[in-house]
Amino acid sequence: MTLSGKRQALLVALRSRTGQWVSGEELSGGLGISRAAISKHIATIKAAGYAIASAPGKGYRLTSGPDRLLPEEILFGLKTAFMGKAGIVHHPLIDSTNTQARALARTGAPEGTLVVAETQSAGRGRKGRSWMASTGEGLLVSLILRPAMEPSRAALITLMTAVSVAEALIEETGIDARIKWPNDILVGRKKMAGILTEMSMELDAVDYVIVGLGLNVNTPLASFHSDIRDIATSVMAESSAPFSRVALLQAILLKFETHYETLTQKGPESILVRWKALSDIVGRRVRVSMMREEIEGRVIDIDADGVLLIDNAPGEPLRILSGDITYLDGESD
Ligand code: BTN
Repeated sequence: MTLSGKRQALLVALRSRTGQWVSGEELSGGLGISRAAISKHIATIKAAGYAIASAPGKGYRLTSGPDRLLPEEILFGLKTAFMGKAGIVHHPLIDSTNTQARALARTGAPEGTLVVAETQSAGRGRKGRSWMASTGEGLLVSLILRPAMEPSRAALITLMTAVSVAEALIEETGIDARIKWPNDILVGRKKMAGILTEMSMELDAVDYVIVGLGLNVNTPLASFHSDIRDIATSVMAESSAPFSRVALLQAILLKFETHYETLTQKGPESILVRWKALSDIVGRRVRVSMMREEIEGRVIDIDADGVLLIDNAPGEPLRILSGDITYLDGESD
């Protein structure tokens, strides 16, 4: 349920004084509506999952909100200038937030529009894989971007997203999150998040980019499908406590916006420095599995377009745009 108009204003008023009593008189004066209307709106807000106590002579007191990715929850305290501010579409259940975001982008939705879901029936991963998450346990989000950038540089957006997610996880939860090229966030050897970047281009320009993020937040290990239980993890599993999905999303959006502005206005240098610091791939021997072939070699670097440079024979390094990596020296994935 999405709250609108006066209800939204009422919620903001209560939330700004969470845990404290606010009189019906003050609310009704502030919002310019009757006490009876306040009481009606309170009932609707409670039905959306907010815990609000009421007492004669004291008024109303908000004690907690729903653990749902509702627009009003995300917007409250969101410190970005435009990421998430251009519009948030929340779905209790959708096929895929990326598919939905693409449909919105095609009909002109502005940059910064965010699509979120509590669960997906056809969540998509890279290379035709699926992404599964039980209701209310993870972050399933897609952002619409319209970068003034050559399509050949779009891989940088995936790297930038990975940096944003890893930094937000480290700062908000203390978890030692690392990036595995190009789009996985690992903790130790286990995957906590994946990124699916999809682009639409016209001639030589990017029309829109959809950045989809699946992050396991409050997923108990037992919830993971048996196929991935040994290789998947969540914030809760790593920190032994549930975490606010909304707080994490807000932190990710803020990091994302900062890095996105740097990338589009100043270029990729500082993102690549951060990416290399958070990834442990440079210098390692790897196997890269691509669509039609597999190669082995040592990673020399990531270039200014986000392409992986691999030394596997004398001469020019191989440029790898997309593939799956297996570490060959020491740790395996
Ligand atoms: C991967 O690791 O292969 C990428 C996984 C990306 C999953 C997210 S969940 C939200 C968004 N919607 C989708 O259908 N996919 C992405």
